[in-house]
Amino acid sequence: MLGRLNHVAIAVKDAEKAAKIYGAAFGAEISAAVPLPEHGVITVFVTLPNTKIEFIQPLGEASPIAKFIERNADGGIHHICYDVPDIIAARDKLIGEGARVLGDGVPKIGAHGKPVLFLHPKDFSGALVEIEQN
Ligand code: CO
Repeated sequence: MLGRLNHVAIAVKDAEKAAKIYGAAFGAEISAAVPLPEHGVITVFVTLPNTKIEFIQPLGEASPIAKFIERNADGGIHHICYDVPDIIAARDKLIGEGARVLGDGVPKIGAHGKPVLFLHPKDFSGALVEIEQN
């Protein structure tokens, strides 16, 4: 059920600024900034040959990454995202294995227009996991 690594997300105060550093230092291809109000973040993607880096910055006062930025003022790795072929089947299997799905368990549409869910970091070696249907 686990597909390829879709992206690694790095939370920062300014996603465009962070991505531009990758553009200048590595010659990386960077996307435009995309606000995702439903997720409380602004995203900028850096495209690599085999995956993406997703820079996220808080959007709005109730942003779920606001506390993370408070604790990590210089930014830090926030989550990793794996492709799954069927997000509902993946969710139900994970719940059956005792994993905790964050929020109400209903997939939201993520930055790529695909359904996503987040899994509790305590169930996955301390790393917040996102799954995306692809
Ligand atoms: Co993500």
